[in-house]
Amino acid sequence: MLTGTGRTSVLKTAFDTFNVRGRPLLPIVQGGMGVGVSAHRLAGNVARLGGVGTISSVDLRRHHPDLMAQTKKSRDKELIDRVNLIALDREIKAAKVIADGNGMVAVNIMRAVAEYASYVKQACESGIDAVVVGAGLPLDLPELTSDYPDIALIPILSDVRGIALIMKKWMRKNRLPDAIVIENPKYAAGHLGAAKPEDVNAPHFAFPAVLEGTLELFKELGIERERIPLIAAGGVNSHEQVQELFKMGASAIQLGTAFAVTEEGDAHINFKKILAEAKPEDIVTFMSVAGLPARGVRTPWLMNYLDKEAKLQSKAGPKQCTVGFDCLAQCGLRDGIAKAGQFCIDTQLAFALEGDVKRGLFFRGSEKLPFGSEIRSVRELVEFLLAGKRPEPKAETAPIMVYKDATPA
Ligand SMILES: Cc1cc2nc3c(=O)[nH]c(=O)nc-3n(C[C@H](O)[C@H](O)[C@H](O)COP(=O)(O)O)c2cc1C
Repeated sequence: MLTGTGRTSVLKTAFDTFNVRGRPLLPIVQGGMGVGVSAHRLAGNVARLGGVGTISSVDLRRHHPDLMAQTKKSRDKELIDRVNLIALDREIKAAKVIADGNGMVAVNIMRAVAEYASYVKQACESGIDAVVVGAGLPLDLPELTSDYPDIALIPILSDVRGIALIMKKWMRKNRLPDAIVIENPKYAAGHLGAAKPEDVNAPHFAFPAVLEGTLELFKELGIERERIPLIAAGGVNSHEQVQELFKMGASAIQLGTAFAVTEEGDAHINFKKILAEAKPEDIVTFMSVAGLPARGVRTPWLMNYLDKEAKLQSKAGPKQCTVGFDCLAQCGLRDGIAKAGQFCIDTQLAFALEGDVKRGLFFRGSEKLPFGSEIRSVRELVEFLLAGKRPEPKAETAPIMVYKDATPA
């Protein structure tokens, strides 16, 4: 039995802590979720218990009415970028207040966003504990953070090939990842680490293959297994599954969807209900504007978009960013890339954050959630996964909103 870390936290769990840059942590990571789904409240509360809470860096101004007021009608990219850095700074500082010295507060930055480097720099200046990068290969992360040697660097990858590439490139710069998130595209939510939707089930993404292959790679490179903890992400929903993953070589697990729907999750209650109440047949994998497959719930906007996708793709051509944010370095809609998605991802994700069930894009993983459609606390989720403790039954509450007849906010 162990008791987590830090001054106050303390959950009894069945597993050892894992170490990231010398810090003992509960072996649970809340994955970064944009736009605004994991901000200070969720990340701070996970860290407070002794785990890793992750803020997603992208477009956090949406949680700050004063910053939104400055930019709502603006198409001035420089201004939008500037206020987003202010928002990131505020969110990191607020999460650290909630964490109260426990666990770790991380920031997730997508390699695919145009302002990746400025988000990394701001996060470091604002006192983040770890920088986590997915949606692309963060080959330059060691240089970008070289003035902050105590900040942990954690890439998100999906197969041994990608892990080997990062390891070898970073080793030439005398840096090793402080942990690696292994995200399985068969189950995960949001952008997936496969080239096409048809590839997400490929055997080289399966957890046993990637965990075993990575430990083998560490041996070849002369790296001790404990030096770089492996964090398994995608579809984790039971205590037994956590035990299995640890037996296969994982040192921690990362969850996204299940954390998004907790009481502390930073999105609107409608957002949580859409994710929690989705049935397997409501979940779909499609091409995102980022040129990667993505997984989400077939809500009205997505159904309508998918009906028109082929037509929109056949007409794809370069155009100006309609919102002036130019969030992605390469955007299928703006740059006219026919095989990528043809919608404004920031606009659709922002609708979802606000609980607009008709117009939002709701990312979600493929698997059942630990508590079915119930909204529970971060603490109950962590205790269930790490200690196998089922929470007390909840009193019935009236359903808040069903997406089919909900009115946009
Ligand atoms: C609403 C939502 C948004 C997400 N956004 C991001 C993101 O911006 N960057 C990222 O690396 N992962 C993102 N993810 C993936 C999660 O961090 C996590 O790795 C993944 O959801 C794990 O799978 P699970 O949902 O089955 O637990 C997102 C997931 C969800 C549910």
